[in-house]
Amino acid sequence: MENIAILGSTGSIGCSSLEVIEKLSHRFRVVGLAAGRNTRLLEKQVEKFKPKIVSVEKKEEADELKKRFKDGSVRVTFSQEGAEEVAGFEENDIVVSAITGIDGLKPTLAALRTGKKIALANKESMVAAGPLIKSLVQEFGSPIIPVDSEHSGVFQCLAKENPESVQKVILTASGGPFFRKSAEEMKDVTLEEALNHPRWKMGKKVTVDSATLMNKGLELVEAHWLFGIEPKKLEVLIHPQSIVHSLVEMNDGSVLAQLSLTDMKVPIQYALTYPEREDSPLTSLDLSEIKSLEFFKPDVDKFPLLKLARLALEEGGSFPVVLNAANEVAVAAFLQKEIRFPEIAEIVSEAVENHQKKEVKDLDDILLVDRETRLVTRNLMERRS
Ligand SMILES: NC(=O)c1ccc[n+]([C@@H]2O[C@H](COP(=O)([O-])OP(=O)(O)OC[C@H]3O[C@@H](n4cnc5c(N)ncnc54)[C@H](OP(=O)(O)O)[C@@H]3O)[C@@H](O)[C@H]2O)c1
Repeated sequence: MENIAILGSTGSIGCSSLEVIEKLSHRFRVVGLAAGRNTRLLEKQVEKFKPKIVSVEKKEEADELKKRFKDGSVRVTFSQEGAEEVAGFEENDIVVSAITGIDGLKPTLAALRTGKKIALANKESMVAAGPLIKSLVQEFGSPIIPVDSEHSGVFQCLAKENPESVQKVILTASGGPFFRKSAEEMKDVTLEEALNHPRWKMGKKVTVDSATLMNKGLELVEAHWLFGIEPKKLEVLIHPQSIVHSLVEMNDGSVLAQLSLTDMKVPIQYALTYPEREDSPLTSLDLSEIKSLEFFKPDVDKFPLLKLARLALEEGGSFPVVLNAANEVAVAAFLQKEIRFPEIAEIVSEAVENHQKKEVKDLDDILLVDRETRLVTRNLMERRS
């Protein structure tokens, strides 16, 4: 039996991970769950999966849970330290890192320090702290298996390859709900339209990131740190069918690709069972039914955040931290209907363009730049209103 802790158990990735674990109950057991505010769902998950440790965001909610499970069968903790405790729980064999945003960083670092396998979904950590995460992997030996479908695809394509033979890594993007809209039409799109992703059912933040294509920008940075691929060898193609998740071009002209149905349970299961594979209950991919697979170059004038993310990656230092923090603030404001859709890109661009590059040597430096950027971005938004 392998023991699993899930950080972000009440989210889209967290719930899909639990579905995978349930189907593979001969092999996996849940020992830890970390959630935010959705204690009702967490309670049901505790009843069903009987973990030994759980955490929630707030003390009052932890106190409620303690009353509910007063037989002491589960240790209930709270706050970021609580999530870190779940991540570092000594019985873990695998940690699924799926808290959204920079809030997932410290728990992910705690998991990395255990030397156990990490199934990484929280891309924002990799964007803000790529070099730090890499150094912890070297120090503690935790293998990181990507959960993002594109990175899972690259990981599988690269499995038996010499990294020096790689010419190009191409991440695909569905294009999001506004791929076929003009820049003019995109000015008036609503929150509801932005959240109506054509292919994937995901949490709200990543869904909005998919609509601006910032998601793909964050994934470029993530791919750089996960696979050590130079930025100039990383490309993006819009592929509306979301069947081919990534392609890797080798120096002999061969192009390797990974295909699967549009279901996050596929890369989640792969990350959990790696290096083995297990049977999947999903229906198999029938290309004759899908018929056509289309690919387009992304329009970076219409989706400027993709270009900005590449710039931040190339600049390095504090720029990726600023990119991520400004984006988190702008997307949160859009989700609250405080700003319009095109303002996300305008505000993030302004925050990045106004930033003076700093060296980020450790976690304190990252968190300082993150905090400063959040203040700067909020001020930028206030000045507009
Ligand atoms: N969904 C996808 O298909 C997909 C694909 C690839 C990568 N990802 C990445 O995976 C991560 C999660 O995405 P998602 O779609 O699953 O998001 P989601 O549905 O919004 O779930 C986020 C999870 O994080 C928890 N959380 C948020 N803030 C927290 C905090 N301060 N402390 C503890 N827990 C906190 C939430 O708890 P509560 O709900 O209880 O508040 C929830 O369990 C993101 O980084 C995303 O980019 C997602």
